[in-house]
Amino acid sequence: MAELILGIESSCDETAAALVRGGREELASVVHSQVAEHAKWGGVVPELASRSHLDQALPVLDACLEQAGLGLDAVDAIAVTHRPGLIGSLLVGLGVAKGLSLGTGLPLVGVDHIEAHVYAATMDLEESPYPCIALVVSGGHTALYRADGPLEMRRLATTLDDAAGEAFDKVAYLLGLPYPGGPSVSKLATEGRRDAIAFPRYHPRKGALGFSFSGLKTAVLYHLRGGDALAPTPAPEAIPDAADVAASFEEAVVDVLVRQTLRAAELEGVDQVLVAGGVACNRRLREVMQAEGAQRGIRATFPRPARCTDNAVMIAGLGWEGFRAGDRADLGLDAAAR
Ligand code: KG4
Ligand code: ZN
Repeated sequence: MAELILGIESSCDETAAALVRGGREELASVVHSQVAEHAKWGGVVPELASRSHLDQALPVLDACLEQAGLGLDAVDAIAVTHRPGLIGSLLVGLGVAKGLSLGTGLPLVGVDHIEAHVYAATMDLEESPYPCIALVVSGGHTALYRADGPLEMRRLATTLDDAAGEAFDKVAYLLGLPYPGGPSVSKLATEGRRDAIAFPRYHPRKGALGFSFSGLKTAVLYHLRGGDALAPTPAPEAIPDAADVAASFEEAVVDVLVRQTLRAAELEGVDQVLVAGGVACNRRLREVMQAEGAQRGIRATFPRPARCTDNAVMIAGLGWEGFRAGDRADLGLDAAAR
């Protein structure tokens, strides 16, 4: 059966709704990004995010139904992100989903945002990728999972400090580039030399898996201060080698992400890797993961760029898997930050 699922997402700074049939066929997708509202603060402000979700939730839902030319009567179930994320943001989407479910009698399915990011990477595949390793890399998460099915994920490792996307955002700030930092650092990096500066790569203890990006971020800061930790940070316009910094920084992040992910695949004895989350948009990450994976007989799959960053297509997609597996939430479905 190819049921039509309405997905609702509001866990961070995107308000999104989508209609997806049978976990694959996208009939409509609307995303309202709050990036402009948070840009001047250099990061997401939770209080502003919740307020914006309240303003946008119903208009985004209406726009989604209009895009598909369908009414709620065509929908078979409502899927909503209920964890993890900013609690005040999650509660807005959850409130809308519960209200719709109560008003229409449609079943409600709770979806895990991280599992949904990974599901996005599987939506265009012809064959099952399981068992596989999933790397989730976004502004809030950097973690490796072993996945044996869309709803069977076990975490293998996570970051000790910053998420990879967060590191991009902080380095962009130091270089005077716009928020969010991933796309802007990556763009500048194309003009620089990847081997210009030997930034450090984190190596976990022998045999272990894991990530850390705070040492790299500090190394970028010290480099900009001319190696003198106590010197003032130069103004962005006074950085002569900004493109080399961007390129060498990006290479260090990509290097660590690729090495740990392929190592996890070898440890778990699997030959498929799924990469998901906002940082999965990164072109260099795609290039290196696919090339180095191919050398080891490991296939790496990334979602379409629009499905890397937060969206509701992935929520409706995974919601369909949950619906088919018999998951049904009641109005007691709770939001969870973690
Ligand atoms: O998944 P996402 O939209 O939101 C979270 O759940 O965090 O990811 C946003 C993050 C931001 O930190 C942004 O800088 C990063 O993804 N990002 C990128 C790229 N595009 C977005 N990082 C590196 N390269 C990119 N092209
Ligand atoms: Zn996300």
